[in-house]
Amino acid sequence: MITATEIKELREQIKTWRMQGLKIAFVPTMGNLHDGHLALVKAAHQHADKVVVSIFINPMQFGLSEDIDNYPKTHQQDKEKLISEKTDLLFLPSSKVIYPKGFTDNTFVEVPNISNLYCGKSRPGHFRGVATVVCKLFNLVQPDVACFGSKDYQQLQIIQTMVDDLSMPVDIIPVEIIREASGLAMSSRNGYLTAEEKQQAPVLYKTLQWLAKQLKSGDNSHNHHRLCQQATNIINKAGLTTDYINICHAYTLAESTPEDKNLVILASAFCGKARLIDNIRVDL
Ligand code: PAJ
Repeated sequence: MITATEIKELREQIKTWRMQGLKIAFVPTMGNLHDGHLALVKAAHQHADKVVVSIFINPMQFGLSEDIDNYPKTHQQDKEKLISEKTDLLFLPSSKVIYPKGFTDNTFVEVPNISNLYCGKSRPGHFRGVATVVCKLFNLVQPDVACFGSKDYQQLQIIQTMVDDLSMPVDIIPVEIIREASGLAMSSRNGYLTAEEKQQAPVLYKTLQWLAKQLKSGDNSHNHHRLCQQATNIINKAGLTTDYINICHAYTLAESTPEDKNLVILASAFCGKARLIDNIRVDL
């Protein structure tokens, strides 16, 4: 595996592969890799000849009150995992490489409306930071395809919208959520959970499954608000603090209407210090 920390090295390698007519897949990450990330790398191999992974803890997507300095950094283990998944190139830039002027003076990309809902409401500016860094990384790597996890469902829709709106020549491949045996969606933030919280956290997915079942049963199809209220109570009773839980149109993410058939239930809850997110798709 080649490791590039500078833009010049990255561009030269990409150019070489392009001249050989090879197809390139890209997986952007913030590191502290787990099986969820590695599923993206596996999917990337199915769509291209060369797989590029980036690890960059993007300061632009962290709020002032969010502790970026404590975000887990495990570069050595990450490299070993990427080598075992036959990654061709790891792009590991510093903040100076990505934001030479500092990120507050940087040009930004903002996907309107959808960026201000749900996670965007709780984390103002977060999705501007995500869209900007992903746009910049796409310009650097110039991939044919890029893989994103469905776990960050809103992020995935925002990236797809950015690509469509700005006619970026990259196909976005969504990858299924990888879960622990308990049902808890794998996340770098799960490392913040204590042993007791690890027992409590799976209630989030269990409640999403319960809600999906209610929707499919049809009995409560006109009572989405009441269902979400009940779900909030279940989650909070188990010791978590619900941030939001919403039944949405699967593609626009607008709150669902009784006519909608393609739904996604989006949820976020605090479990101790960790802010967990999860979702489930429901087609009626
Ligand atoms: P990060 O949280 O490191 O996630 C990188 C990618 O891994 C994202 O596409 C995310 O959806 C996917 N992922 C994480 N957990 C997953 C799981 N359990 N199952 C499937 N996929 C999973 O998301 C980011 O980084 C950043 O916002 C980034 C896009 C890199 C921009 O900075």
